[in-house]
Amino acid sequence: MFPLSYGFQSCWSPNIPASSSLQRNTELECWTPMLNDSMAWFYTVLEEESNSELELIKASLKELPRIAQIRLVSSHQEVYEPCDDSFALVDALLADRHSMLEHHPRLCMEIGCGSGYVITSLALILGQEGNGINYIATDINPHAVSVTRETLEAHGVGAELIVTDIASGLEKRLAGLVDVLVVNPPYVPTPEDEVGVEGITSSWAGGENGRSVIDKILPVADRLLSEKGLLYMVTLTANNPSDICHQMRKKGYASKIVIQRSTEEESLHIIKFWRDFNTDENEMDRSAPGFLSSLFSLIPLLSYWRGTNSEK
Ligand SMILES: C[S@@+](CC[C@H](N)C(=O)[O-])C[C@H]1O[C@@H](n2cnc3c(N)ncnc32)[C@H](O)[C@@H]1O
Repeated sequence: MFPLSYGFQSCWSPNIPASSSLQRNTELECWTPMLNDSMAWFYTVLEEESNSELELIKASLKELPRIAQIRLVSSHQEVYEPCDDSFALVDALLADRHSMLEHHPRLCMEIGCGSGYVITSLALILGQEGNGINYIATDINPHAVSVTRETLEAHGVGAELIVTDIASGLEKRLAGLVDVLVVNPPYVPTPEDEVGVEGITSSWAGGENGRSVIDKILPVADRLLSEKGLLYMVTLTANNPSDICHQMRKKGYASKIVIQRSTEEESLHIIKFWRDFNTDENEMDRSAPGFLSSLFSLIPLLSYWRGTNSEK
C-alpha cells in the first residue's frame, strides 16, 4: 500500500475522490486508487498542512486541464519503482503548480528519472510544447531511461532522455537555462563504496549521511538553474536538510519546505530552492546551520520556513 500522490492518479479522475490511496495492481500493471482504508491518514496529513497550502492544492486540482492516471506501463528489476518519496515530490509539484507557471518555465529537468513517474507527472502538470515548455531527464542507469521513455510515451508526453552521471556533458549546453529542476536523489546513508554501483543500488545508496550524490548535485544545480529557476529536492532527516539549505544559502538561494511527510521508515522533506537576489551578509549569517536547525525543531509537519522576505 502506498499513500496517494495527492491529486494525481486519482484526483484527475472525476469519479474518484481525492482521498484515496494507491495500491499496485499487478494484473493491470498500474497504480490503482484504493478507496477508504487510508483516508483517515490522508486527511490527517492534509489537516496538518496550512490552510493556505490546502486551498492552493484544491485550486490546482480544480484547474487541472486533463484527466490522467500515471500507469506503470513498464518496469525493470534494476529500476526504482515510484514510492513514498516519488509521491511526495509529485505532491509538492502539484501544490506548487501556480508558482511554477508564474515563472513561465521553458525548460524543466529531472536528474535521476528512474521509472519516469516524476518527469511524466511534471509534464502533465505543466503542459508541453503547446505551453512552450520542454523537458529533459537524466539517469545514470540506462534501464531507467528506457522505462522512462515508455512511461512518457504511454502518457502522451515527451522529454529528451540522457544516460549520464547527474548532468555530465550537458552543463555547457544547459548552463543557466533550467527553470524547474526536480531531484529525488539516492539519499539513504550507506557505506561509501555502495555509491554509484551499477543497477538498482544506485537508486538509494547515498554514502555517508546519504549526502554523497546530493552534494555533487547541488553545485550542478546552481550552474544549470536560470535566474528564475526553481529546484525541488527530496531529502531525509538523516541528510541534514538544514545543512543542505545552508550550503545553498551560501550560493544565494532561499529555501522552504513544500512538504514534510513521515512514514514508519523515514521522514521526508521536499525542499524548494530559488535564487534570492536580496541576500545580504546578515541574511547569510542567519542561515548558519545552528539557526536553521533550531527552526527545523520548531516546524510542525508540513510547515515551512523562508530564508528571506522574498515570497515564493
Ligand atoms: C530514488 S530514485 C528516484 C527515481 C525517480 N525520480 C522517482 O522519484 O521515482 C534515484 C534515481 O537516481 C538515479 N541516480 C543515482 N545516481 C545518479 C547519478 N549520479 N546521476 C544520475 N542519476 C542517478 C538512480 O538510477 C535512480 O533512478
